[in-house]
Amino acid sequence: MGVRTVAAFGTEEFQQRRFGAHLDTARRGGVRSGIRIGIFWGLQNFSFAVLYAVTLWFGGHVLIAGRMKDHQDAQVNGGDVIVVLIALITGMTGISTFSGYAPGLFKAVASAKSLKEMIRWKDRDIEPDHFWDEEASPSLADLQSIEFRSVVFNYPLQPEKVVLSKLSFFISKGQKVAFVGESGCGKSTTIQLILRFYDPKSGEIVINGTPLQRLPVRSWRRMLGYVGQHPVLFATSAMENIKAGEDISDEEAIEAARQAQILDTLTQLPEGLDSFIGAGGGMLSGGQRQRVAIARALARKPKALLLDEATSALDNESERMVQETLDCLEETLGRALTTISIAHRLTTIAKSDMIYMLKEGHVCEQGTHQELLGRASSGFLWNLRGPTDLRFLSSLHAEQILKL
Ligand SMILES: Nc1ncnc2c1ncn2[C@@H]1O[C@H](COP(=O)(O)OP(=O)(O)OP(=O)(O)O)[C@@H](O)[C@H]1O
Ligand SMILES: [Mg+2]
Repeated sequence: MGVRTVAAFGTEEFQQRRFGAHLDTARRGGVRSGIRIGIFWGLQNFSFAVLYAVTLWFGGHVLIAGRMKDHQDAQVNGGDVIVVLIALITGMTGISTFSGYAPGLFKAVASAKSLKEMIRWKDRDIEPDHFWDEEASPSLADLQSIEFRSVVFNYPLQPEKVVLSKLSFFISKGQKVAFVGESGCGKSTTIQLILRFYDPKSGEIVINGTPLQRLPVRSWRRMLGYVGQHPVLFATSAMENIKAGEDISDEEAIEAARQAQILDTLTQLPEGLDSFIGAGGGMLSGGQRQRVAIARALARKPKALLLDEATSALDNESERMVQETLDCLEETLGRALTTISIAHRLTTIAKSDMIYMLKEGHVCEQGTHQELLGRASSGFLWNLRGPTDLRFLSSLHAEQILKL
């Protein structure tokens, strides 16, 4: 896909030069290590030759000196010299064979250093505490609430930029909540914190009254169905993508595909749901990829759905159908399903029980759709887009539009 972008912008030569520059660094590194290895081998072979020469010279010298004295009393004979020579040859062959592994050994030492650093990171920085704690906590038997208490967060690579500043909200079981706000205000970040890809800098995320940091992460993530802003599909069949390594039957996967309105499209592929869908799902359209990702989230039968602009690439009709399915999911499942959606389109959030509007990382307004519309001076309407929203705008009273 990167190749297509390069070709579309006609920057092949520039990218080739950039790639060449990187190759050049590798080439220089290769030449440097080649010279070092060459010098090492040269010195080694030279020292072997010198050692043989010295042995022969010294052995010969000792033998001659012995003969010149008294032959009978000579301490060293020709056999001894040969033994020393054979011992030297054997020892040097061993050293020489071992030194053949030297480049690999140096690489292994360097890799071991990085690996050790990563192993040291694993506990603290990469994976949060309790990551390997497989035992499901009793407080995760069901999802009662998700609460953010004055959460402050910045990404580790940009410590000076505060992304979430004292973000607080409360979501109770079965609630349909939406986050809206201008681009970059921290909506996707909020979802990433719920998934515990990061921990807050200060404040707390509390699940069912227990801080998220004290819950086993895997068990927590198993309760969630996540559809990302740019869903990633694996280079395998549609069926395997929907199952995503979980213990899900074919029937359940097919049902999830039906709910996500993608079943018909998938069954028309040459091998149906078992068809290979390309690297990153590249053989599907953007909207189809999104629907497979929605099917993947639904197939896990989650307790909460996290939808980060999950229907943004769909046409109005498909979006309406998927949205209707999502809206009716509680009835289909026969139990409460908490839904957290991020969207700019009105159709996606109109039925939400609560809409939080974020600005610079905190909630600047909240309320139901109707309540927010009543306050039409708010920035809420600016966050709507798409033809549906134009239809909606045309239905507004003139005074509401004038307030915008
Ligand atoms: N991995 C990251 N490292 C550093 N900064 C990041 C990272 N991801 C996002 N940010 C920054 O955090 C801020 C919030 O990003 P976020 O993705 O939450 O925005 P958003 O509200 O989802 O926007 P959009 O509507 O465009 O998707 C942005 O200013 C962004 O530049
Ligand atoms: Mg986002």
